[in-house]
Amino acid sequence: MKKEQKFETKIIHDGYSSKDFHGSLVPPIYQTSTFSFETAEQGERRFRGEEDGYIYTRLGNPTVKMLEDRIASLENAEAGLAFGSGMAAVSAVLISLTKSNDHILCSQGVYGCTFGLLQMMQEKYGISHSFSMMQTREQIEEAIKPETACIYVETPINPTMLLIDLQLVVEIAKERNIPVVVDNTFSSPYLQNPIDFGCDIVVHSATKYIGGHGDVIAGLIVGKADTIKNIAMTTLKDIGGVLSPFDAWLLIRGLKTLPVRMDRHCDNAEKIVDELKKHSKIESIYYPGDEESPAFDVMKKQMRRGGGLISFKIKGNKEEAQRLLNELQLIKIAVSLGDAETLIQHPATMTHAVVPKESREQMGITDNLIRLSVGLESWEDIWNDLNQALNQI
Ligand SMILES: Cc1ncc(COP(=O)(O)O)c(C=O)c1O
Repeated sequence: MKKEQKFETKIIHDGYSSKDFHGSLVPPIYQTSTFSFETAEQGERRFRGEEDGYIYTRLGNPTVKMLEDRIASLENAEAGLAFGSGMAAVSAVLISLTKSNDHILCSQGVYGCTFGLLQMMQEKYGISHSFSMMQTREQIEEAIKPETACIYVETPINPTMLLIDLQLVVEIAKERNIPVVVDNTFSSPYLQNPIDFGCDIVVHSATKYIGGHGDVIAGLIVGKADTIKNIAMTTLKDIGGVLSPFDAWLLIRGLKTLPVRMDRHCDNAEKIVDELKKHSKIESIYYPGDEESPAFDVMKKQMRRGGGLISFKIKGNKEEAQRLLNELQLIKIAVSLGDAETLIQHPATMTHAVVPKESREQMGITDNLIRLSVGLESWEDIWNDLNQALNQI
């Protein structure tokens, strides 16, 4: 029997065999919108689902399929599905799992556009939602309603970097037969695999660490084969947020270096945390890989390492936080994450500006909080830039 290969090997080889493609080492791009049938009868069989084969790229494409098979293998899932953005993936999953009068229980502090989608689902279709910190069994149990149709979790939580214990959430959800969906964007499949803890569907904004180069907008999901097939043939096919073959190819290319990049992101983040701790202008630091973090024990349980994102509070107010950003020379002011470039943003006026101030502060997003997506540059250069800017506020 073939020995199960390691993650670092699977990420380069799974889902593609060069011998099926004239020996081409790199997968070809099937840049086509449709596929011709040999006969009318073959077309009929394909439409009836009696014969395997491609029909039309919105329903499936060989380059996109390679990426879907690879992400499924990396997340230890039965099947995967690709989308034109992370939000196309999130919306397809939430729409497929709910109907009017259902309720979605979410971790506190979901991504801003996911929050917008939940509000729209509530206003237009009567699908309600609520938020829970999900830090204890009691907090989760008391938030579940008889009409809860799905539990939607982001861990680490953006931008406070608290974690949610996936094993605990699954234990409670399974007792009630409620599916658990995890947005795994911040960890990438290299650092965390929620399917291993019994979660049902994993969602990624592949725009971030999976693409890794800041040049693609994409989404991926994985789960059980029948669930994924159902989403492919309903919300993906009929709403139509598909990924282009070229973007799938870019993701296949970007993915190959994910373990190497992630280790470098983590190494750099750990060094920056060590330096931030010594700086007199820093009030507090939020990094799950830090032994002093309240999230450290859960991190050890479910993540390989602490990741590339750090949040910190400066001793100062909004103006000083903005001055810090303006004084930077190497680090870019931008709201994405997971790129080679180090990016910095001010959540209170950028990613979380739509959240009312009071709720924002309850979530720990005060005006002096800053989020850093640590890139792949030399950690000394990142620190020198941050340090000189901190010294000027
Ligand atoms: C945690 C998380 N989920 C989903 C998304 C949405 O992804 P996309 O921008 O690819 O649509 C983002 C984007 O920042 C995100 O940070």
